[in-house]
Amino acid sequence: MTDEPGLVPDTQVSVREVFGLDSALRVPAFRTADAHVPEIDPAYRFQHDVTLALLAGFAHNRRVLVQGLHGTGKSSHIEQVAARLNWPCLRVNLDGHVGRLDLIGRDAVVLKDGQQVTEFQPGILPWALQRPVALVFDEYDAGRPDVMFVIQRVLEQGGRLTLLDQNTVLTPHPAFRLFATANTVGQGNLNGLYHGVQRLNHAQIDRWNIVAALDYLHPAEEEAIVLARVPALGDEAGRRLVAQMVALAGLTRKGFAAGDVSTLMSPRTVITWAENLQIFGDVALAFRLSYANKCDEAERPVVAEYFQRCLDRELEPSGAP
Ligand SMILES: Nc1ncnc2c1ncn2[C@@H]1O[C@H](COP(=O)(O)OP(=O)(O)OP(=O)(O)O)[C@@H](O)[C@H]1O
Ligand SMILES: [Mg+2]
Repeated sequence: MTDEPGLVPDTQVSVREVFGLDSALRVPAFRTADAHVPEIDPAYRFQHDVTLALLAGFAHNRRVLVQGLHGTGKSSHIEQVAARLNWPCLRVNLDGHVGRLDLIGRDAVVLKDGQQVTEFQPGILPWALQRPVALVFDEYDAGRPDVMFVIQRVLEQGGRLTLLDQNTVLTPHPAFRLFATANTVGQGNLNGLYHGVQRLNHAQIDRWNIVAALDYLHPAEEEAIVLARVPALGDEAGRRLVAQMVALAGLTRKGFAAGDVSTLMSPRTVITWAENLQIFGDVALAFRLSYANKCDEAERPVVAEYFQRCLDRELEPSGAP
């Protein structure tokens, strides 16, 4: 489908039926999926506000930026919405190595009829812009300034892209969409959590039509996500344990805010802990391997106390028999 640039959404889906949200909204979608459509994760749990913001992005061509602490489900959320709309989706990680030429394109030497010729190879942006593709810039706040200014041009609706050296102006495909995820909204590495992020230009932040926040969820919702990922914990004892694990994660987040610990437990880490528990069969060992060893030596007693408080047992130091 992405190789048939003429294609536009050819059906509509009900938000209530497909996403399980309390809304009468219907959104455009594609009948068939191509290789760029992400795979559906049946265990994925949608969050009312964030999902609606993303759906508005797809349905009304809004530029949506999802901001939130690490491991809260920003990237996977966009991917899972696209999966259910059969909307081709391309994720680009804007780490410090992505430069302007990667985005726009560059001249490259290619072989044509046995001859070496120089040809313009379009970068990711011209390619996506002319197709029915949801382009997701992950780690948007880590993007280099030269890259950010290229993106700024296409952030506006109908934002055209001028390829200066090619003398061409590209008009976006009607089903081209643009999303981004970021841990910060432009203030840089204020709390020391996110090394490598940049302060963002406010003219750029201003161009995003919708900024959705995906910080930590209600404990009951977080428990439901962990259980969806690790269904083996679905019995009564397992559920109790997951509730204790999520409570412990909550303590690390409070402790982080108070400056007691320097590493907080993200929902991703809680999921990893539950998965490692399946492998090792020991909740304390799995905890040490998934989280405690990431903490500074000096913080281990605090972490051990959190463990004791939530799980009602001691966390033996690693190396103990
Ligand atoms: N609502 C959810 N339902 C099911 N699984 C979820 C949900 N939210 C997050 N997860 C799982 O949590 C993990 C982390 O999600 P994801 O990578 O999307 O986070 P992120 O916010 O993009 O993190 P980062 O800021 O580090 O990029 C993934 O394995 C994902 O499948
Ligand atoms: Mg991400």
